[in-house]
Amino acid sequence: MAGPTDGYPTDAPYRIAFQASQTPAHLALVCATAGMAWAMRDDLQVADLGCGRGYVANTLAAANPEWRVVGIDHSPVQIAEAAMTARRAGLDNVEFIEADLGALADAGIARLPQFDVVMLHGLWTWVSDAVRDGIGRLLLQRLRPGALVYVGYNVLPAAAADFALQRLLRQLAGPRHDSGGSVIAAERAMARLRGLAGSLPLPRTAMLERLMNDPPLLEPAFVAHEFLTDHWRPVFHEELCAALAACKLDFVGSCNLFESLPGLLDDPERDRLLREAAPGQAREFLKDLCLPRSFRADVFVRGARAADPVRALDTMVVAATRALPERSPVLDTGVSRATWPQPLWEALRGRLEQGPCEVAELRAVRARDALHPAELLSMLVGSALVQPIFRATAAGPAASAARFNRAVAALHAQGGDGRGHFALAAHAAAGGLPADALDLALVSALSAAGPASDPSALALAIQPNATPGERELLTTRVAARLAERLAAWRRFGIL
Ligand SMILES: C[S@@+](CC[C@H](N)C(=O)[O-])C[C@H]1O[C@@H](n2cnc3c(N)ncnc32)[C@H](O)[C@@H]1O
Repeated sequence: MAGPTDGYPTDAPYRIAFQASQTPAHLALVCATAGMAWAMRDDLQVADLGCGRGYVANTLAAANPEWRVVGIDHSPVQIAEAAMTARRAGLDNVEFIEADLGALADAGIARLPQFDVVMLHGLWTWVSDAVRDGIGRLLLQRLRPGALVYVGYNVLPAAAADFALQRLLRQLAGPRHDSGGSVIAAERAMARLRGLAGSLPLPRTAMLERLMNDPPLLEPAFVAHEFLTDHWRPVFHEELCAALAACKLDFVGSCNLFESLPGLLDDPERDRLLREAAPGQAREFLKDLCLPRSFRADVFVRGARAADPVRALDTMVVAATRALPERSPVLDTGVSRATWPQPLWEALRGRLEQGPCEVAELRAVRARDALHPAELLSMLVGSALVQPIFRATAAGPAASAARFNRAVAALHAQGGDGRGHFALAAHAAAGGLPADALDLALVSALSAAGPASDPSALALAIQPNATPGERELLTTRVAARLAERLAAWRRFGIL
């Protein structure tokens, strides 16, 4: 059994949790909102560092046959799964490399391509200084001018509330190498924590609540990755900026588009402080103080060029990812809940239901409301109701995306009941539409069945061995899901 590399367990697969916000399609929105020129291209070279089981890297490769995608992780079990998925989907534009990012020699780094986009989700604050140095060397040497770097990380001050919890779990786990591996160690720690936490003065964080829930809402493999690492320590945004400045990278903006909006904190005095703070690190720190979030996702650029944000956002094309709700969406920022007047929402919904459109056209449906495009997109993208479209869908589903969607259904759908946050590869979106196991199963069954979409026939295809009662329940779920998603899957060229 493989042991830990530099204090990080390598023997357990992490959960599959596709993050749309780390993909180049979303980074394009962040750049446009921040007034930074960056255009989606057909020939991107993309890397996912600490790629885990490779779901994001494979989705991007499948949706973008012209891109070259590289996933790097030190965990053999995860790299093996990532490579197997790529093989099953017939993807020849993705490569998975098993390597410790802290131990990559310059010669190894030099063999990598020059990247346009590098993603690090859940890596920076989990690894040692030596690994951070290795990542820094890679970024310094292998980024093209104009390249983007995405970093998802635990941020101070809010993440400090979990410091003691992490230390306690590590102690409760005991030695993980001689006791059946990190998942068993995590199970042991979770069981002991449940017996102890009520008597200890631990901050009642969301993480602790999920661990104490009966049954726990976190899987042992997740806990092994999140807590049984020797080096987990959150950072201030400013510290990350300093480390990346040494790689010639400048901060662009947060992946939470709403963070760029005026009135963000919904408290006049705090909003005044935020407006008066110097843009950049001082303002970002005030947000980190006032927003109750322990995780940040930020975008950095090598060589920023300014662009007019209104023009950049207005020319983006967006489409609905699901049937749109009757009532206006509500965007929860953690300190405020934003919503739109119902007539404005009805006008926007009416236009989106007709099909994809430019943001400028969408805003124009109610010119009197003078919606800023950043507000429009913060609300619609933030509530997962729309995604940008970069390519026409007239040619039908891209072959590689269709193969990937079938392969991941076979691997993970489990009759529509599989656990995980998946995605369906979409050529039009240059990425993926978030999906659950039922979505994977349904798209696979629909592509085999042709245009027919009878819910009971689909339920039979998804769970051929179900009892009549189970089949009836599944048929109801399938009918509801088709009403919610079928049109969007066609809109994004998934079907
Ligand atoms: C918290 S997980 C996140 C995985 C993936 N990015 C995701 O979001 O699903 C961190 C990942 O980084 C990998 N990792 C940790 N230390 C590493 C190192 N020194 N070199 C390469 N990969 C490493 C782990 O194996 C793990 O898959």
